Amino acid sequence: MTSFRDDVLRGLRQPQKAIPSKYLYDAEGSRLFDQITTLDTYYPTRTERTILETNVAAIADALRPSPVVVEYGSGSSDKTRILLDALHGEISAYVPIDISGEHLHAAADRLRQRYEGMPVLPVVADYTQSFDLPELPPHDHIVVFFPGSTVGNFEPEEAEAFFHGAAAVAGQSPHGGLLIGADQRKPLDVLLPAYDDPDGITARFNLNLLARINRELAGTFRLEDWAHEARWNETESRIEMHLVSQVAQTAEVAGERFAFAEGETIHTEISTKYGPDSLAELAAGAGWIRRDRWTDARGWFAVERYSLG
Ligand code: AVJ
Repeated sequence: MTSFRDDVLRGLRQPQKAIPSKYLYDAEGSRLFDQITTLDTYYPTRTERTILETNVAAIADALRPSPVVVEYGSGSSDKTRILLDALHGEISAYVPIDISGEHLHAAADRLRQRYEGMPVLPVVADYTQSFDLPELPPHDHIVVFFPGSTVGNFEPEEAEAFFHGAAAVAGQSPHGGLLIGADQRKPLDVLLPAYDDPDGITARFNLNLLARINRELAGTFRLEDWAHEARWNETESRIEMHLVSQVAQTAEVAGERFAFAEGETIHTEISTKYGPDSLAELAAGAGWIRRDRWTDARGWFAVERYSLG
């Protein structure tokens, strides 16, 4: 188990300084991300939601009968409600997995009230590490639900590890499944404003990482000397968020001093945008076969269903 402190120090010692994106989501970062999802410029959340709503009958059919639905990074399970509204009476158990126990248990209580009789079995875990499923009621098959194109935040090797991990979880039943959201390549005049909005909410979301380091790791970053940047990396087909040092400066973290040249960046997030078949090719390496693909009219986002064999 690595810690915020160790990961930040390790990341800042590299030639291209970088901090794992999962640390963007403390309480303040999660609040800012929720705000991002309501922005006109940020299309992914509402596009995926529309795809799920439009195709919920077909998706529910594909998940029948009596699935266990395991959601990675469930948060408030907002999008999951679209599936649960259609399937709650037939679901063997809903297993939300999240790293924040407090929020997870509060969300689980709300779901138990809303879907009376549906077993909700939360697991507090970092799903990028291995974890155990709870004891499950009788079921036909296990389906991993991973919406939000969060898979796009992984480096290719990490995405590969995710597909292997999901196969190990879903493979504990015959016909294991995976339902996953994947943001698609699209024109840069749409992509760039989605990650650098005119209201500056995404900038605050990114800069909050430095504020968090100041709060939790005795950091001395002067936030006014840093700027948010969203850049397109064509080779890797991804948006990258960076924090750009506006001046030559130093900052301390947990007693260690780091120097930053003017214009030097800390890389804080990647958000991969997929071609029509690129996620399927990655998933195939772990034995996943694509069975369905649902998109919006513009082809901006895809929800895909996979099975093992
Ligand atoms: C929730 C990780 C999918 O990559 O689009 C939004 C995060 N970062 N704006 C994304 C995010 C900047 C988001 N994910």
